[in-house]
Amino acid sequence: TWSAASIVEDQIRLIREQVGDKKVICGLSGGVDSSVAALLVHRAIGDQLTCVFVDHGMMRKNEGDQVVKTFRDTFKVPLVAVDAEDRFLSKLSGTSEPEAKRKIIGTEFIRVFEEEALKLAEGGEGAKFLVQGTLYSDVIESGGGTGAATIKSHHNVGGLPDDLEFELVEPLRALFKDEVRAVGAELGLPERLVWRQPFPGPGLAIRVVGGEATKERLDLLRDADAILQDEIRNAGLYRDLWQSFCVLPDVRTVGVQGDERTYGYVVVIRAVTSDDAMTADWARLPYDLLEQIAARMIGELREVNRVVLDITSKPPGTIEWE
Ligand code: XMP
Repeated sequence: TWSAASIVEDQIRLIREQVGDKKVICGLSGGVDSSVAALLVHRAIGDQLTCVFVDHGMMRKNEGDQVVKTFRDTFKVPLVAVDAEDRFLSKLSGTSEPEAKRKIIGTEFIRVFEEEALKLAEGGEGAKFLVQGTLYSDVIESGGGTGAATIKSHHNVGGLPDDLEFELVEPLRALFKDEVRAVGAELGLPERLVWRQPFPGPGLAIRVVGGEATKERLDLLRDADAILQDEIRNAGLYRDLWQSFCVLPDVRTVGVQGDERTYGYVVVIRAVTSDDAMTADWARLPYDLLEQIAARMIGELREVNRVVLDITSKPPGTIEWE
């Protein structure tokens, strides 16, 4: 019979059998899949595992710190945290086209990961194995896709170059998302990580839309997003939503505050319910909550003078704006 504890036990045995005494590397994204995969492997082989967390500067507020704290301090997992914000920002400079942003971020991500893997290998035996948080749904998707058009190129840590050859360790390959969460809880992963909503690999860069993802805009979006998350959590709605986030279009509008004319940014609230992201329904958030969110954003963020709600379902919209 199925239980999170028995999965943990089985996987520990299988991981030990697969990797023996060899070194293993794992890219942590802060998402539930890579987090649970990393913890499972660490349980199995301890410090033979090194995790690499690349902060590309497109994460949400305090997200990087939380990942580092959880893995390094709480779970004592050997962790290399790379602050690559400047590097990614300079690569993104001048680019506003969505697929171009994705491509730049995906490529740079692999490059940074590769460099760290090589550094770790210096003066010793390098990692032979790479942990990936592949789920059963990913296996089906990549196996079943016969020429379906790629609407957006989704990037995850994959596509590593051939010269960095790893054998994959994929302890979640047979599991569904809810089972992964149960395993995460069994392993003591904090509630915040176990129930984290999906977050795209390119992060906030594809939520600064119609313009360049500059540091200023990303910071503003991060602040707006933090207010939204805070209010959604306080309202007890976080788990009911597939995703909830803000979008920052490169648009300013006229407003009035006090006696003064303002010319500020528009923040879009996007919240959807969904089972699998293939289709999604815009979430009917309570009016009082929306009011509170808008009031806080305009009150706390000097550059924002208007807040709007996206009421487009998928299809015809996509969940993200880019
Ligand atoms: P869309 O916008 O196509 O998104 O309705 C469907 C789901 O995929 C996520 N998404 C991404 N995830 N890299 C990712 O890892 C990406 O480039 C990317 N684009 C969209 C999106 O957040 C939603 O959950």
